[in-house]
Amino acid sequence: MKILAIDTSCDETAVAITDGRKVIANAIYSQILIHKKWGGVVPAIAKRAHEERIDLVINSALSKSKIKNQKSKINLIDCIAVTQGPGLAVALEVGIKKAKELADKYQKKLIAVNHLEGHIYSVFAQNRQGKPEREIKFPYLALLVSGGHTELIIFKDHLSYQVIGETIDDAAGEALDKAAKMLGLGYPGGPIIERLALEAGNSDQFKFPRPMLHSSDLNFSFSGLKTSFYYFLKKQKKEKSFGGPRVLRQLASSFQEAVFETLIKKTEKAIMETKINNLIACGGVMNNKYLRKLLRHLAKKHHGQVLFPPYKYLNGDNAAMIGLAAYYKFKKKKFITDINTLDRIPRMQLTTIY
Ligand code: KG4
Ligand code: ZN
Repeated sequence: MKILAIDTSCDETAVAITDGRKVIANAIYSQILIHKKWGGVVPAIAKRAHEERIDLVINSALSKSKIKNQKSKINLIDCIAVTQGPGLAVALEVGIKKAKELADKYQKKLIAVNHLEGHIYSVFAQNRQGKPEREIKFPYLALLVSGGHTELIIFKDHLSYQVIGETIDDAAGEALDKAAKMLGLGYPGGPIIERLALEAGNSDQFKFPRPMLHSSDLNFSFSGLKTSFYYFLKKQKKEKSFGGPRVLRQLASSFQEAVFETLIKKTEKAIMETKINNLIACGGVMNNKYLRKLLRHLAKKHHGQVLFPPYKYLNGDNAAMIGLAAYYKFKKKKFITDINTLDRIPRMQLTTIY
């Protein structure tokens, strides 16, 4: 059951070919270098870059797939899957238009996938040899942390989600990116902050506020932390006490610590409230080795386990995860009945019915 999946939700043009949980081919064209000089993703530039590259990335995935019939590889695909949202409207449109075109031209069924369910399913992806085997045992408590989202979700069964906590303002990845920008570091900031924090021994010299840590719900908020960081830096610069690589490392480390402690404490609260100690941890921020360590420690403390995406490319945006989620939709025959009606939903929620 081969699926050709497309994701153009933000700044990666991604296409994959999956067969059940196996990723047969994965192709990603990252626009990071294009957006880097602007310090963030510029929608109009992202749209153009997706348009310019999408055919190339599709062909790259098809040729990587090693599907035997060279001439008509796409005919051997059973269905097309595409990310419907959430994401940048102008970017999502490019993938959806292409998916419709392919479905129409080759008479394939079309499946729409929520980008967030893709991230959740990313932990169950396998390589061509079917590794890792990982049996799926519901329910899971999923922590999704990316540049656009910070969510706690009960993953009850295939395609069944309940969001129990989310950010009320900035996402955790976005907060790390903004802090890096304030420190004059590059984009995306998460990996740079990780490196500096490691050099500072992941210490917490400055003890920035942990927003909403003691609120009764499971929601997150990072904008207060960002503001307090901004004023702290401003004050330091005024007093000319800012400077030197040692202070820079400590600032990065303390900021990261504030973000991660909030994530861990809220996840722990969710474990205790839901009594689910079987965790899924996904999204771009899960590239961070220190955060992985903290989550492993947390799961162990509660006699549970945590599943991360098994291969590095599955942490960030990719289309393999979209193909995986689509496989379970295929099994439940959740096809788009009239492809002309399929439209992007930039603020799509996990509970959106489609
Ligand atoms: O999932 P993703 O690739 O894209 C979105 O859907 O947003 O996540 C991107 C986010 C960025 O904020 C980036 O700074 C963060 O993931 N990130 C990291 C690391 N690598 C990427 N954050 C912390 N440590 C990392 N190593
Ligand atoms: Zn994402």
